[in-house]
Amino acid sequence: MKDFTLENLTEAVVEAYTKDATTPRTAEVVGSLIKHLHAFAKEVDLTEGEWFEGIQFLTETGKKCDDKRQEFILLSDTLGLSMVVDAINHPKGGLGTESTVLGPFYVDGAPVVDSGSSIIKKDQGGEVVLVTGKVTDPDGNPLTGATLDVWQTASNQLYDVQDPDAPEWNLRATIKAKDNGEFSFVSEKPTSYPVPTDGPVGRLLTAGGRHAFRPAHLHFMVKAPGYETVVTHIFVDGDPYLDSDAVFATKAALVAKFEPSNDQALASEHGLSVPFTKMHYEFGLLAEGTA
Ligand code: BEZ
Ligand code: FE
Repeated sequence: MKDFTLENLTEAVVEAYTKDATTPRTAEVVGSLIKHLHAFAKEVDLTEGEWFEGIQFLTETGKKCDDKRQEFILLSDTLGLSMVVDAINHPKGGLGTESTVLGPFYVDGAPVVDSGSSIIKKDQGGEVVLVTGKVTDPDGNPLTGATLDVWQTASNQLYDVQDPDAPEWNLRATIKAKDNGEFSFVSEKPTSYPVPTDGPVGRLLTAGGRHAFRPAHLHFMVKAPGYETVVTHIFVDGDPYLDSDAVFATKAALVAKFEPSNDQALASEHGLSVPFTKMHYEFGLLAEGTA
């Protein structure tokens, strides 16, 4: 029989899970997970009370999840794990637009609208902004057939899916770029907002002495046939939370200026009057298989 001790347990457990694992990758991932979990418990001299508190925390995290709320993703985001996975899979310094977290508020199937449309379904008093830009390959050649899924908070710091008073698809759409890759849409300037804090992740943030705010941003999921999809945000330059994002998802290349414009032609084209606030950003997508 085995005589398990603190000294021989980790090796024995890793061996049990890896020697007949169904694939080499399963052996690698599960084996490493066990090693790191055991090392963590040993490093902090985990007490039984602390271990049980951890189990209760994870149980509550699971119970907080439903089809609209994903507390495990929020946990991964606030622990910086989502951005570690993002950085491994989308290294910086590449040619295309940098990626960042998807977040829990993306909804598939938003209404498809032409470039130039307004995505404001209800005036909630936010600052109106004209967003313009272009979707190109890394050399700046325009891509045809591009679409941009956009979603953001309103001036009350809520996404439509969090706000019972917001109409469905408020500040959310799939924008069809023009054949020359250019796109525009009218929206509201996004606000900084807290990630949900009414669950176990909120308690963890408090315990860690952290605030829950994310710097103001627009979410984009940019697609074009034959090119890798980019999931990213564009952050509002000057936001006070750019240096302390609750989910560690900021990247310098994703910050844009929201500036006043007196461009009368653009204003008339979009039913606005001058001066108006404008933000411009150009997205570069990598050819499929080159990311
Ligand atoms: C968001 O930007 O929508 C978000 C991202 C991570 C956690 C919570 C919210
Ligand atoms: Fe967001």
